[in-house]
Amino acid sequence: MAAMQVERVLIDAAAIGERIGALAGEISRDYAGKDLVLIAALKGAYVFMADLSRCLDVPHHIEFVRAASYHGGTESSGSVEVQTVGNLDIAGRHVLVVEDIYDTGLTVYQLREALLEQEPASLEMCVFLHKERARLREVDIRYRAFHVPDVFVVGYGLDFDQYYRNLPYVAVLSSTDGPPYP
Ligand code: XMP
Ligand code: MG
Repeated sequence: MAAMQVERVLIDAAAIGERIGALAGEISRDYAGKDLVLIAALKGAYVFMADLSRCLDVPHHIEFVRAASYHGGTESSGSVEVQTVGNLDIAGRHVLVVEDIYDTGLTVYQLREALLEQEPASLEMCVFLHKERARLREVDIRYRAFHVPDVFVVGYGLDFDQYYRNLPYVAVLSSTDGPPYP
């Protein structure tokens, strides 16, 4: 089996830092004076959540949910399961969902449906990457850090078979037919 490696860097760490600073400024202005809760979907959004949250200058809570749509490989399974992590108390509060990528749209759609059941005062989506492709579900995305073409990307929280999440940049792999180790 061929070992995979990074073929090219799509978005480097400096560009990510700069863009997240600007996005956090916009979000901070929009949520000034509001009771804000950021909810990140594990695992992919953990890096984005940490960086975005630390750039915000409005007070906020952070919460996590688990959304699993991939079961290894690069194809969506088509079904998304949303699980809460601990007590999620969002009724009457302003929720910003922090997600790694808007791809087929299934995950953000399911997250939205599940969280709306708890009757937040508002609910908006903030994605790190907005992939250019046909959707299975269209969802209104209020904030995005970057648009990316329809290629499978890794890094900055995004994985291939659980590897590569730690890369501080977004990259395309040379092949997806083998494990990321020799
Ligand atoms: P959907 O298709 O539901 O996908 O919008 C959302 C989830 O699928 C994963 N995903 C990716 N993971 N590189 C990845 O490492 C990709 O290019 C990619 N596209 C989708 C991701 O976990 C996301 O939350
Ligand atoms: Mg994934």
